[in-house]
Amino acid sequence: MTSPEVLRSPEALRARCDEARCRGLGVGFVPTMGALHEGHLALAREARGRVGDAGLVAVSVFVNPTQFGPHEDFSRYPRDLAADVARCAEASVDVVFAPAVEAMYPPGDQTRVRVGALSEPLCGPLRPGHFEGVATVVTRLFAVAMPCVAFFGRKDYQQWRVLERLARDLLLPVEVVGVGTVRDRDGLALSSRNRYLSPEDRARATAVPRALSLAVRAYARGERRTAALVGCARAPLDALTPRVDYVELRDADTLEALPEVLPEGRRAVLAVAVHHGGARLIDNVVLGEEGAPCAVDEP
Ligand code: PAF
Repeated sequence: MTSPEVLRSPEALRARCDEARCRGLGVGFVPTMGALHEGHLALAREARGRVGDAGLVAVSVFVNPTQFGPHEDFSRYPRDLAADVARCAEASVDVVFAPAVEAMYPPGDQTRVRVGALSEPLCGPLRPGHFEGVATVVTRLFAVAMPCVAFFGRKDYQQWRVLERLARDLLLPVEVVGVGTVRDRDGLALSSRNRYLSPEDRARATAVPRALSLAVRAYARGERRTAALVGCARAPLDALTPRVDYVELRDADTLEALPEVLPEGRRAVLAVAVHHGGARLIDNVVLGEEGAPCAVDEP
């Protein structure tokens, strides 16, 4: 297991990626904020699968200040570069890019990237400026690495859709790939923020995969009324979760609101955001396409 090279400056990453491209090799890129877990490693392994053994797999580790609101967890977000580099070695990553804030936001910086309608529902109103911060930093990371393919977790479903749209709208020559959510044995989606949970909150947080699973089961039994599907998911959350930001069923491609009854063939994503203790958790499932995240008793 060889340790990845750690690069700090955008110039160094650009040079490394240029060199790979000049040799005719693909560059696969995984943007992260660090605190890496198996979900991130799954993205890096996908990247390796796509560019092959000879290609270049780069992971960025950058806690991006512009995507955090003033009362969010920017200052306490876990930072442990040595641990992240060790995890990247497990997934045979070639390069870890860990820039300073000033390198990504040069003095006098005044440019932001905003994706329209896809940023507006779900987390949009609850985290003003969040997707603009994400879109801005990912555009800059793409401008530096110029990858042919980039990987994002589908747990952050709206983020994935926003970034896919961004690449298409800006005519960027990068394929944005969404990779399936990695879950703990009890169904809880892996997230860097799970480490904020106390053991009690961790236990209660299993209400999230149970909520999604109940909706998956109802859909499989033929339920197509949107309010009923949302209602199935709300029940365990209302019982166990101190604060529910949203439980919503949306068009899986556009994130638009859906009619009262799902039309045949309309793809729908059930998305959930809740707070447990100090952690805000999000999760989702595309009905009819993904299995239940955990086992649930049939009603
Ligand atoms: O999903 C994340 O970790 C971040 O939002 C991203 C895409 C790396 C941008 O900072």
